[in-house]
Amino acid sequence: MSALPPESSESEAGDPLGIRYPNTARIWNYHLRGKDNFEPDRKAAAAVNELFRKMGVPSPRDTAVETRHLLQRMVDYMLGQGARQFLDLGSGLPNMANTHQVAQRAAAGARVVYVDIDPMVSSHASALMGGSGVITLQADLREPEQVLGNPQVRQLLDFGQPVGIIFICVLHCLWDKEDPWGVVRQFRDAVVPGSYLALSQMTTETHEQAAQAVFQMTQDLHWNTPLISRSRAEITRFFDGFTLVEPGLVTPAQWRPDLDNPLRDRWGDDVGDDAPALKVVIPEPSQEVDRSTWNLCGIGIKNQP
Ligand SMILES: C[S@@+](CC[C@H](N)C(=O)[O-])C[C@H]1O[C@@H](n2cnc3c(N)ncnc32)[C@H](O)[C@@H]1O
Repeated sequence: MSALPPESSESEAGDPLGIRYPNTARIWNYHLRGKDNFEPDRKAAAAVNELFRKMGVPSPRDTAVETRHLLQRMVDYMLGQGARQFLDLGSGLPNMANTHQVAQRAAAGARVVYVDIDPMVSSHASALMGGSGVITLQADLREPEQVLGNPQVRQLLDFGQPVGIIFICVLHCLWDKEDPWGVVRQFRDAVVPGSYLALSQMTTETHEQAAQAVFQMTQDLHWNTPLISRSRAEITRFFDGFTLVEPGLVTPAQWRPDLDNPLRDRWGDDVGDDAPALKVVIPEPSQEVDRSTWNLCGIGIKNQP
C-alpha cells in the first residue's frame, strides 16, 4: 500500500470549512448514526458500504460501533488500574458515553483532554463536553508539542502521574512519511512509567484487498485524510517502550469482552444534566458479521527506564 501523501491538498482551496469533500470525522459520525455530516460524507460512506458489501467484509458501521464499545472497555480497564487522567487523541465528534463520561462515572475527579484537528469536532466538543476536569483542544497530533506544550493541558494534567494516552482509530489517518511511530514516541516520552497507551488501528491482516481498495477510495474521492491499514508488525512497533497487557494485540471483539461496558447499562442510570444532548443510541455490535474486523488493538504500560 502506498503511504506517501499528495503534494498539496486540493480540498483546502476555496473550502475553508472542508465540506466539499468527504471528511473522516463526519463519516465516522454518520456510521454511528449521528447528524453532524454532509452530503459528500454520506455519499462516501455509502460508497464504502457498497464496496465492503461486495467484498463480503464487515460493514464500516459495525466497525465503528465495535470501536465505541472498545473505547469504553479500555477506559474502564485503565481506571481499574488506577489511571485518573486521559489524553484522547483524534477523539472524534461527541458520541454516546465519551471518555470523560466513562471515567467520571467511576472516578468523579478524573480529568480528560480531548484533541482533534477538525474544527467541527472542536466546536461540537466544546459545546457538549465541557465541565469540570475536561478540556477540548483543536490541535494536530502530528505536532505533539501543540498538545504537550499547551498551558491549559499542563494545568489540567499532572505529568508526574500516570496518563492514559488514547489513539483509537486515528493513526491510520497518518501517512508513513508523517512518522506516526515518532508521534506516539513523543507522547510516550512525555509521560511517566506506569502510564498507558490504548490504541486501535486498521490492519491489513484480516482483509488485505479491501484495505487497499478503501485506501484507494480515500484518494479518489479526496477524503481529508487517508485510511492506511498496517501490518501486525507495524502496529506492534507503536508499543515500543510499553509492555502489552493481556490479551496482547487482538481484534476489538477479542479485547477483554467481559469487562464492564458502560454502554450496556449506562442509560438506566442517573447520568446528569448533559446526558440528553449526548444520547445517541448505539446498539450492541451485530452478532451476524464476522467479528474479525478491521482493527488490531491493545493496551501497553510504559516500561520503567
Ligand atoms: C475515525 S475517527 C475516530 C474517532 C474516535 N477516536 C473514535 O474512536 O470514535 C478519527 C478522528 O481523528 C481525527 N484526526 C485525524 N487526523 C488527525 C490529526 N492529525 N490530529 C488530530 N486529530 C486527527 C479526525 O478528525 C477524526 O475525528
